[in-house]
Amino acid sequence: MTNRVLVTGGAGFIGSHLCERLVDSGADVLSVDNYFTGSKANIAHLVGRPTFEVMRHDVTFPLYVEVDEIYNLACPASPIHYQLDPVQTTKTSVHGAINMLGLAKRVKARILQASTSEVYGDPTVHPQTEGYWGNVNPIGPRACYDEGKRCAETLFFDYHRQHALAIRVARIFNTYGPRMHPRDGRVVSNFIVQALQGEPITIYGDGGQTRAFCYVDDLVDGLVRLMAAPDEVTGPVNLGNPGEFTILELAEKVISLTGSRSKLEFQPLPRDDPMQRRPDITLAGQALDWRPAIQLEDGLGRTIDYFKALLA
Ligand SMILES: NC(=O)c1ccc[n+]([C@@H]2O[C@H](COP(=O)([O-])OP(=O)(O)OC[C@H]3O[C@@H](n4cnc5c(N)ncnc54)[C@H](O)[C@@H]3O)[C@@H](O)[C@H]2O)c1
Repeated sequence: MTNRVLVTGGAGFIGSHLCERLVDSGADVLSVDNYFTGSKANIAHLVGRPTFEVMRHDVTFPLYVEVDEIYNLACPASPIHYQLDPVQTTKTSVHGAINMLGLAKRVKARILQASTSEVYGDPTVHPQTEGYWGNVNPIGPRACYDEGKRCAETLFFDYHRQHALAIRVARIFNTYGPRMHPRDGRVVSNFIVQALQGEPITIYGDGGQTRAFCYVDDLVDGLVRLMAAPDEVTGPVNLGNPGEFTILELAEKVISLTGSRSKLEFQPLPRDDPMQRRPDITLAGQALDWRPAIQLEDGLGRTIDYFKALLA
C-alpha cells in the first residue's frame, strides 16, 4: 500500500525538498502550509504529480486527514520571521505540536518533529550532544522560538510515554541550500545575496563566532532515515554537519565562489546570539548510519547557482 505522508511546512525551504524526496520515492504526499514564510513557487514543480497534494492550513488549528506518517516542520525558522509575531511563533510550535500529535494519535501515524539546535541556547558544552540540556534565556527575544521548540519536544515525549505514540525528534542544525528565503537574514543566504549584488557583506560581531552548515539534501536524507528507523529510535537525534567554520571564513568562501568585489561590514552582535555551534552526530551515525556527504564548497556552489537564477 502507498505510504501517505503529511508534511507540515511543506512549502518552506526544507519542507519543499522533503516533499520532493518523498514524492520521488513513491509516497503519497500532502503538503500543509499557511505560506507565512514558505511559497507556492517552492513546490510549483511538484503540483500536477498525481501523488502530490497541497492544502492551505494553519497548524495552530486542528486538522483531520488520514495519513501514515507526519513530518512536523511548520514554523518560521529565521529570527527576522519568528520575531515578527512572537506570540504566533510560540502558538505554531506548541499548539501546532498538540494538533499534529492529536492527529497522529487518532490515525495511529508515526510523527517526526523538526526540532532545532536552538534548544541548546548559547551552549556551555561544545560540541553539543543530545544529553546536554541547554542554556536558553526564557524571556529574551529568541525565546518564542527556542522555548516553543523545547515545549514541543516535551509534548512529543509526553505523548510517547502517555499514549505510546511512535515519535521521532530531530534536532536540526544550521541547514542551507536552494529555496532559502533570499531576505530572511540567515547567514548563508544573506552573504550570497549581498555578494551577488555587490553589496557590503554584513558580519555581526568580529566574525570569530563559529557555525556548522549542513546542505539541505543531506539533512533531508537524515530526516527520512529517522522516520524509517525502528520505533525505539525516538531521538532526540542531532542532524547537522560537524564541519565548523567561523563566520569570517564563510564570508571569504562566498566572496571567492561568487567572484564578488563586496567588502566586509562589521555590525554589533545581536542579543543572545550563540558564539559556537557544532553538532556531535555520533548518535545519528550509530542509530541511522547517517553522516553528511556534501562539502561546504559544493553546497555553496549549488546555492549560489539558485540565487543567481532567482535574482536574474
Ligand atoms: N533551516 C534551518 O537551518 C533549520 C534549523 C533548525 C530547525 N529548523 C526547523 O525546520 C523546519 C523548517 O525550517 P525551514 O528552514 O524550512 O523554514 P521555512 O520558514 O522555510 O519553513 C517553514 C514553513 O512553515 C510554514 N508555517 C509557518 N507557520 C505555520 C503555521 N502556523 N501553519 C502552517 N504552516 C506554517 C511556513 O510558511 C514555511 O513554509 C522548521 O520547523 C524549523 O524550525 C530549520
